[in-house]
Amino acid sequence: EHIMSKDVIIACDFSSKEEVMNFLDKFQEEKPFLKIGMELFYAEGPEIVREIKKRGHKIFLDLKLHDIPNTVKKSMAVLSRLDVDMCNLHAAGSSKMMEAAIEGLTKPDGTRNTMLIAVTQLTSTTEEVMQEDLLIEKPLPEVVMHYAANAKKAGLDGVVCSPLEAAIVHEKCGDEFMTVTPGIRFAGADAQDQKRITTPEDARTKGSDFIVVGRPITKAEDPQAAYERCIREFLGE
Ligand code: C5P
Repeated sequence: EHIMSKDVIIACDFSSKEEVMNFLDKFQEEKPFLKIGMELFYAEGPEIVREIKKRGHKIFLDLKLHDIPNTVKKSMAVLSRLDVDMCNLHAAGSSKMMEAAIEGLTKPDGTRNTMLIAVTQLTSTTEEVMQEDLLIEKPLPEVVMHYAANAKKAGLDGVVCSPLEAAIVHEKCGDEFMTVTPGIRFAGADAQDQKRITTPEDARTKGSDFIVVGRPITKAEDPQAAYERCIREFLGE
């Protein structure tokens, strides 16, 4: 239904319309798939989504919803009207919350145009943080896989995870269950604050469906060239 082909998603981590539009003006013919996160959304509101969509980009709206099921359902119903291609929530909100989210995203005619992806554990959460700060005592990979299975059962389309986990997610949840993977760096580049990184090519061999790439493109001397390099390496074209 809403199966999309593998792609590179640029994380537009900017805090104003001016900055994001300046960035987008650097692309000529191409219309990259873009991720809009909380920073830009909270700064500019839903209008920025409409405007960027109007320019012909696919959009992953990364707002990571996490609230009681009824609130998430109603919020997803509102977001469904933006007709973005992908949005997400925290699996930690429970299976009930995820089911409610799917209901909310489904239009009155029964169709759903927006893929829904779950965040399992944030990559900033280490096993130590999870166990000692959050009192979740199981091993981190077990928690990630359990949350992924919950997401699948609730009818979601995939999870955000590390490319290093993509193969095992596919093994457990099937090939159609999407893996959206950040933490991408070109070979030899600075990892910055990312801990476990892979190159676009590694992500491809590990079975990622979408790579989310921020600074390696947004901070590049030539963003268009960096984007094209990602596409080449990830899609093997
Ligand atoms: O600049 P960089 O390539 O590190 O950006 C990665 C993007 O992916 C950022 O928008 C970041 O918030 C997001 N992300 C992440 N790790 C996750 C989930 C999202 O890096 N687990």
